Formats: sequence, structure tokens, C-alpha cells
Amino acid sequence: MEPDVSRTDASKSDVSKCRICAGEVRKFFDFGTQPLSDAFLTEREKDQAFHFRLAVGLCTGCTMVQLLEEVPRERMFHHDYPYHSSGSRHMREHFAQTAHDLLATELTGPDPFCVEIGSNDGVMLGVIKDAGVRHLGVEPSGGVAELARKDGVRVRTDFFEESTARLIAAEDGPADVVYAANTICHIPYLDSILRGVDVLLRPGGVFVFEDPYLGDIAERNTFDQIYDEHFYLFTARSVRGVARRFGFELVDVRRLPVHGGEVRYTLARRGEREVSPAVPALIAEEAGRGLAELETLEKLGNGIDRICADLVALLEDLRRQGRSVAGYGATAKSATVTNYAGIGPELLPCVYDTTPAKIGRLMPGSGIPIRAAGEFSRPYPDYAVLFAWNHTDEILAREAEFAARGGKWIVYVPEVRVL
Ligand code: SAM
Ligand code: TMP
Ligand code: ZN
Repeated sequence: MEPDVSRTDASKSDVSKCRICAGEVRKFFDFGTQPLSDAFLTEREKDQAFHFRLAVGLCTGCTMVQLLEEVPRERMFHHDYPYHSSGSRHMREHFAQTAHDLLATELTGPDPFCVEIGSNDGVMLGVIKDAGVRHLGVEPSGGVAELARKDGVRVRTDFFEESTARLIAAEDGPADVVYAANTICHIPYLDSILRGVDVLLRPGGVFVFEDPYLGDIAERNTFDQIYDEHFYLFTARSVRGVARRFGFELVDVRRLPVHGGEVRYTLARRGEREVSPAVPALIAEEAGRGLAELETLEKLGNGIDRICADLVALLEDLRRQGRSVAGYGATAKSATVTNYAGIGPELLPCVYDTTPAKIGRLMPGSGIPIRAAGEFSRPYPDYAVLFAWNHTDEILAREAEFAARGGKWIVYVPEVRVL
């Protein structure tokens, strides 16, 4: 891996050109130089870390919230991409429910076909496969794609874009549904995605995708949703805008209680489906909350500095008192927290996680070692920072013994608190 190649003077600007409308993107928060959030390197590799400038802004033209600097996709999504979607029971249940919903509503014709963009380890498509329905995952990260294949899921190891869509349409014919979760917001080139979906979708078909919702991020101060892979932070208004540019209409929105609050967007070609009243309702709510105004988003920025200062102060205090502290969940999100707040092994000696591809490696940038979650109890620390706050119920249940023995969980969103 080449070190640090993307730190250029141009990246220091407070404005950039919108990836959607070529309008002006104005910065509202700057995390400075950050490592890639999912690059879990070994001790030997750690000096080779790639860095970029993490800054986020609002487009004054189309209201799309986006990063000012883009990381080349091959640096983030490659054979060793460590995130495994099946790692959470709650998410497995969510995707099983999603698959059943799609099977009942959209995949009902004589020989339906479902394409998933960013199918990862096959957590959703496995259920579609079990129902005997034709499917194809498009997944550039070879390791997770291989896991899905082992489960009998059909996967093409590739980035989805217009050219990929043409190849799939030629080989498999039109799709009834193109689905994606936690993937479309990762892809700066939405123009090519939407042209690709247009090539692939049968008349009357739908493009359904779900991603972290800016409304929830602003409401709950979940600033750690901002990292390299989350290039866009969507609202219903910004999604409707980009859909219309490419001949689509946003026909439905549904808020989802996963990953701290997401929205599932349903797009159809313009005029093909009725628009649900939920769409104008959510857009009106967003307007009332000022989600397309720079001042509102700058307030999120003030919260970031306060949370980071409070968290560091708490960890320093615990260190002074001689209390042991660890982190729980080596999430991509935690890279933003630890690196922006300046939390290293001296304040947090280790982080526990269940993911085999992360265990034994180091947290990006901060260099905090990652240990197997199975070792959390040997011995339990006095306090644990819950970085995987989006899996709170699941982790608190799994680790009930920690609290039963007097261990205390620390959360930092929407504010720093000891549970
Ligand atoms: N859908 C899964 C979920 O919700 O848990 C995986 C989400 S993971 C955060 C994002 C996935 O998108 C990764 O597996 C990544 O390799 C994949 N990805 C990134 N860019 C892509 C692209 N252009 N086309 C298809 N998949 C892509
Ligand atoms: P995510 O927030 O991006 O979904 O990542 C969650 C991380 O937390 C992932 O590395 C797996 C880890 N994890 C645990 O260590 N234990 C758990 O019980 C759960 C649900 C997740
Ligand atoms: Zn724009």
C-alpha cells in the first residue's frame, strides 16, 4: 500500500464541486487528515496507512450532503474488505425480513430476478436464493463475495456501474428489483449508478436502497457516521433531486431502526408508480428542521467537538483513578471518533470485536490493538466504550455478565454518558 498519497493542497479548500449537480459544496465540518476507516493493518503494515482529508459539506445547488474529498474506490473495497454483514443477529433478521418483503411485493411475476448492489457476504440474497428466486449480487470485495458463493448465492465480483449493468442485462435479462443496503451512499458516481439501474430495470421495476439518514445523524449527534465510505448523507429531498435528474421519481420512503436510523428509498421510473404521501411528508419535515441549511449542519459540528472533549476528559479521569477501560466494536465509525478526539492506546488499551478479519490487527490511525470479543471477560475491564452503539441491545444482551459483575458501559452519542 502506498502511504499518504492523497494529501494535496487542493484538498484544503472549503468548497468543492458537487458530484451530482456541479454546484458549490460548502464545508460544514472538517475532521482533518484521517486514515481509511476499514483499514485494519498489522503492526508491520501500520506505517503504510493511506490518509485522506475528511471534510463534509452541503451542496448549495441540490442540497446533497457529501464529502469534499473522494477516496479511490479500490483502496476501500478490495479482497480483504473486513466488514461482514452477517456479524449481527439484528441485521440478519432485518435482511431476512427485507428479503421476505421483496419476495411478497416485487418478486411475484413468473420468473422474477433480483439484483443486489453491495451484497457483501450474502446476508440478504441468501434468503432470496432459498426461495428459489433468480438473483445476482454485485460485490467488488472478493473475500466477502466468496463467503456468499459458499452459501450458494450467485455473485459477480465487480463494482456496479453503467457498464456492469449493461453486461448483466445482456446475460440475465431485466431485473424486477435492484436493491442495495449501506452501499449507495458509498458511491460518489451516482450518475453511473442511476443510468445502470435504468438499463437493468424492467418497465415498472423498482430501485430500493437504504442508507444512514441525515435526519437521524443530526438529531442524535451520530457524527461518527461520517467517514471515508459514507460519501453521501442522504435526505428524502436530496434523493428525490438526484432521482429526477436521471428520469426516476422517489415514490416511497420508510424510516428504519437500524444502524442508528436509516431511510429506505424506493425509486421508479417517472410516471410508472404513484408517489406515496410519506415522501412529501418526510420532505416537509426535513424543511421544518432546516436539514438543507448550512447553519443547522454547523450546529452538528459544535456537538462533535463537545462530545470528543467530554469523552477524552472521561477517559483521562478514569485513567487517573486507575480504572481499566476498553473499547467494544471495532466499527468503521470508531475510526472517526478515536482519530478526531486523539484517543490512542494510552487512554484505551484495546478494543474487543467478533470479526475474524479485525482481531489481532490495529484500529486505523490510533493503533489500538483489537482483541477477540471472547476475551472480553479475561478479565473484564471496569469500563467499556460502546463504539458499536448501533448494536446496543444485541451487545448488552450478549455481554450481560459484564454489567452483572459491575462493569459500566460508556456511550458517546447523543452525548457522553455512563450507562
Ligand atoms: N449490504 C451490506 C449491508 O448492508 O450490510 C453491505 C454493506 S457494506 C458497508 C458496503 C458494501 O458495498 C461492501 O461490501 C462493498 O464492497 C460494496 N460496494 C462498494 N462499492 C460498490 C459498488 N460500486 N458496487 C457494488 N458494491 C459496492
Ligand atoms: P457496524 O457498526 O459497522 O455494523 O460494525 C459493528 C462492529 O461491531 C463489527 O466489527 C462487529 C462488531 N460486533 C461485535 O463485536 N459484537 C457484536 O455483538 C456485534 C453485533 C457486533
Ligand atoms: Zn449539488
